[in-house]
Amino acid sequence: MEHIKNYIDQNKNRFLDELIDLLKIPSISADPAYAKDVLNCAEQVKTSLIEAGADNVEICETPGYPIVYGEKIIDKNKPTVLVYGHYDVQPADPLELWDSGPFEPIIKKTDIHPQGAIFARGACDDKGQMYMHVKAFELMMKTNSLDCNVKFMIEGEEEVGSNNLEEFVKNNKEKLTCDAILISDTGIIANDTPSITTGLKGLSYMEVEVTGPNRDLHSGLYGGAVANPINILCEMIASLKNEDNRITIDGFYDNVLDLSNEEREDIARAPFSLDKYKAALDLSDVHGEKGYTTMERTGIRPTLDVNGIWGGYIGEGAKTVIASKAYAKISMRLVPNQSDEEITRKFTEHFQKIAPKSVSVKIMPHHGGEPYQSPTDINAYKAASMAMETTYGKKPVPVKSGGSIPIVALFEKELNVKSILMGFGLDSDAIHSPNEHYGIFNYLKGIETIPHFYANFNKLYEGKA
Ligand code: BES
Ligand code: MN
Ligand code: MN
Repeated sequence: MEHIKNYIDQNKNRFLDELIDLLKIPSISADPAYAKDVLNCAEQVKTSLIEAGADNVEICETPGYPIVYGEKIIDKNKPTVLVYGHYDVQPADPLELWDSGPFEPIIKKTDIHPQGAIFARGACDDKGQMYMHVKAFELMMKTNSLDCNVKFMIEGEEEVGSNNLEEFVKNNKEKLTCDAILISDTGIIANDTPSITTGLKGLSYMEVEVTGPNRDLHSGLYGGAVANPINILCEMIASLKNEDNRITIDGFYDNVLDLSNEEREDIARAPFSLDKYKAALDLSDVHGEKGYTTMERTGIRPTLDVNGIWGGYIGEGAKTVIASKAYAKISMRLVPNQSDEEITRKFTEHFQKIAPKSVSVKIMPHHGGEPYQSPTDINAYKAASMAMETTYGKKPVPVKSGGSIPIVALFEKELNVKSILMGFGLDSDAIHSPNEHYGIFNYLKGIETIPHFYANFNKLYEGKA
């Protein structure tokens, strides 16, 4: 497989330049002010697929942002790999915490990325990882080594819940027929410790509004005599966990499966250093559900977090006021056997129940999603594992992630195909945060590993490996 390394060596500067161009487009799906840029980004992805050699490349319109589709069908008897990724990115704010413009990509060296990393919003999540697939495909086309059929489905609404992709998948089952779905939108443990994600969490995301008096009040004239919605909201949120950091919502754990000793041993086997974890985050201690390790807490236990909380006066100086309303955005990450619908209902009932009579509460669910688990005994997992073993010189460890890609469970339900989460990012790449970056090592390693996946998958499919 020398052709892979040679092609990458000869083309790596162009691979980087092309990714940098893609990263200059602020394709923020959450903010309507960037609508043109998101559409423009879809066009650029389309062009890149055509230039890499894909056929039937099209921009599939949806009521929201379009899905870019392309394919290369080389032989009906060969297995088909569906590549999924997203070209939309998270908002870049808080802008003042970036050391360089989020849409002015630059390459800088870091301790973890001595070969350099590209700093830009979307560098790792998911433009950099998605584009590895386009370049790996180009490599296989140009070196005549593609031995599976490929379909690309690159969407523009992942960061806002993939609402329109669901319809698209339901309406295009034939078009999307495949033998495996390959996704690079997750990470590895470290650059010398490859891993494959075998679990994603589900998500239930709520926005709550607590209303006290019908208008903002002078906090001296009324303070102590009426409910302050901010105080009340804080008390309500604080009560959602007990002293063991267990979630107190009625019935929250009803469907959560107990961990077998074997599962716990598997999780404990993945290389993980609590000291390094704490040091990387400048923490003197970690925090979480009693009786579970950090890897268990992130990987297989459901969690609840406030993502934002606001209300009242936050301007310069002091204004003495009792706000009429207080707000919070609260997410719950779900594990197998919990459902988004069930938890959304339980949260709503519970939150209404714990609200004192002195306030009223409004609860609005946002997008959610179901958890996903990938087995390790299927051909697609084996193909990915062997590919990483070849390119990293080490067998990857299966790891359950705390992140969510809600559409993956839907792929399984609608297309009846498992997804392989062969991502190349690092947790320290600051996705969704200021100074997001993606290692050049990771980018090129991804481009190198993907062709091995195709070769392995084809061989396994033919029963040769
Ligand atoms: N790529 C991430 C999810 C991810 C990252 C999973 C790293 C595992 C490891 C994805 O783009 C994402 O951000 N998902 C959101 C949910 C979505 C509905 C906004 C998440 O996990 O918060
Ligand atoms: Mn992503
Ligand atoms: Mn994301």
